[in-house]
Amino acid sequence: IPVDPFDLIIIGATGDLARRKILPGLFRRMCAGQMPETAKVIGASRGDLDDAGFRDFVKDALKEFAGDTAKDAKSVAQFLEMLEYVSLDVFGDTGWKELKSKLRPDTIHAVYFSVGPSLFGEIARKLSGHGITDEHSRIVVEKPFGHDLETAKALNTELRACFDEHQIYRIDHYLGKETVQNLMAVRFGNALFEPLWNAQHVDHVQITVAETVSVEGRGGYYDKSGAMRDMVQNHLMQLLCLSAMEPPSKYGADAVRDEKLKVIRALEPVAPSEVVRGQYSAGRDMASYLEHAEDPDSKTESFIAMKVKVANWRWASTPFYLRTGKRLRGRMSEIAIVFKDPPHSIFEGDFNRKGNVLVIRLQPDEGITMRVTIKEPGPGGMRLTEVPLDMSFADALGDQVSVMPDAYERLIMDVIRGDQTLFMRGDEVEAAWAWVDPIIEAWQDAGSRPVPYDPGGSGPDDSLMLLHKDGRRWREIK
Ligand code: BG6
Repeated sequence: IPVDPFDLIIIGATGDLARRKILPGLFRRMCAGQMPETAKVIGASRGDLDDAGFRDFVKDALKEFAGDTAKDAKSVAQFLEMLEYVSLDVFGDTGWKELKSKLRPDTIHAVYFSVGPSLFGEIARKLSGHGITDEHSRIVVEKPFGHDLETAKALNTELRACFDEHQIYRIDHYLGKETVQNLMAVRFGNALFEPLWNAQHVDHVQITVAETVSVEGRGGYYDKSGAMRDMVQNHLMQLLCLSAMEPPSKYGADAVRDEKLKVIRALEPVAPSEVVRGQYSAGRDMASYLEHAEDPDSKTESFIAMKVKVANWRWASTPFYLRTGKRLRGRMSEIAIVFKDPPHSIFEGDFNRKGNVLVIRLQPDEGITMRVTIKEPGPGGMRLTEVPLDMSFADALGDQVSVMPDAYERLIMDVIRGDQTLFMRGDEVEAAWAWVDPIIEAWQDAGSRPVPYDPGGSGPDDSLMLLHKDGRRWREIK
């Protein structure tokens, strides 16, 4: 279903995010027939380009990042036709009037701030000061949304001085992932799971976002953030919220975000003994974190494992274990709901039971698996074993999967539709920082150093111990 006609300004249009994600994403939406033919994309940045120069830049970006769709010369030409360019000086006067003159009346206006947060305030002031935006415009901002609670509050204040909350779309690209939304569909679209989704039946929940990549090439940014700020405060927090929240009264922006906010506010402060911080060491032909960070004495973590408690009626006594890290054995993101054993076993003998687990796989091979107990086939009597009930999206949905929009494509189309459900609200971001800040401050006060871990494994041994001491174990990173 095509969205309504729109003019989208991308500030920072020649930057990395625009080149890799935003522009190829828009192109794919055009190819899928979701972008109206009259859509206009106005690139703006410091560079001294003209329309033709910008189109050349985008053509190259599509070749590199838009996959096979970019081989269709006709579609590429059609997309390039939609593009215009304005050379812009964020702190000066150049370009702003021209930008305004490019906008058409009676279309949706959106501005994507594809720049660092230090520019958000100035851009917001310039846009509204020059009358480029009004009360109907939408703005899109990227993470990192602040470095801590104080800076996040300052950013919110700057943006809200020019825009209402309902105009501000804060992207967390994890919310745009297909399976993340499926988590809500599974929970609230089936009568089967929700009655079991509580401390009475769930032993614990494991949320893992494991990556094989290092921080090579982005050590400058990463070293000031670390896994806690880069991944836990936003992506893992969102996964935790969607797993733990109460059913919203409807699938709508404020109803969903109200429930997520309640989860964040219910999080107990985390004791330092319940957090494991790691930093990858050197491996065969692989540089260590310290070499990538360029600070031989960096205390920044590239791995976190932690035990989190949601102090409310539903989750009292059921811990959530979160784990994320770079340079691990595999790229694997999943949410695993580990159920309690049946209250009484009628079967004799031990069969090394692991129990029922519902796994929502975000990547790779998106899908849902449920581990169930069955009788071992054959004449050997009543012996039990466990098998997966496996649903891979690729198998179940076939061709539909190959045309599934990626996270950015979906989120940009949601901006045009005016649907904020999959975007973070200002109070949510602040609440997440309010929970994370004391943990980071405690490390800083103690001058604590992350423990080293070998690349290609599953993180430091302390992370295994975090669960072992509770009589549990992590699922394997593959
Ligand atoms: C980004 C982080 O937000 O998410 C990166 O800054 C991380 O450090 C990336 O690698 C992971 O995203 P995805 O979609 O590849 O899981």
